[in-house]
Amino acid sequence: MRILLMNMSPKNYGATQEILKTMQEAAPKGASTELVCLGDWEIGYCKGCKACYQTRACVIKDGMEPLLHKLGQADVLVLAAPSYWADVPGVCKSFIDRCTAYSDTNPDPEAPRLAAGKRCYGIALRTGTRPVECEHILQTIEHWCGHMGVAYAEGLYFCQIEDKKDIGPHKALLREKAAAWFAE
Ligand SMILES: Cc1cc2nc3c(=O)[nH]c(=O)nc-3n(C[C@H](O)[C@H](O)[C@H](O)COP(=O)(O)O)c2cc1C
Repeated sequence: MRILLMNMSPKNYGATQEILKTMQEAAPKGASTELVCLGDWEIGYCKGCKACYQTRACVIKDGMEPLLHKLGQADVLVLAAPSYWADVPGVCKSFIDRCTAYSDTNPDPEAPRLAAGKRCYGIALRTGTRPVECEHILQTIEHWCGHMGVAYAEGLYFCQIEDKKDIGPHKALLREKAAAWFAE
């Protein structure tokens, strides 16, 4: 099984990274895992031109092509995003917008699509106490899955997370989730 863990924030050393590192370390021995942070990739803004509807490719040549290739290779996806101003971070939104060529909103029947059979888990985190912001972020991830032909399997969220030191108390739960989510 190939598992792709995606840190949907610009920061590869924070709480989101700590969550995904914990899950990666708890993955079953036989699984192949990769952890990527969107902040480490060049991802330009979608121009809204819809040229991809005609050409089946984005006019912008940057980190999206290799990232989409990684998505294509994975069986299981874990998308984790912190709340920035009660929403996903800008780089996460850019990533989502740039998936348009692969989305079922692309009317071209020959357009590129991710292979069927992938499943995705969502994780949201925030510093504040009320779950509503996290629920919104999980809905965004579920919405992305719906248009990308990926089965949204489960969401998990954490409130009162300022930085990576706040993840310590949740590591046992994250290891449990890794065992359940990454089972064959
Ligand atoms: C630009 C910015 C905006 C943020 N906005 C919110 C917010 O609206 N609500 C909230 O609860 N936390 C907010 N936070 C706090 C982050 O969600 C929290 O620190 C999270 O743990 C960051 O994850 P990271 O360490 O992986 O970057 C914000 C943080 C940043 C940097």
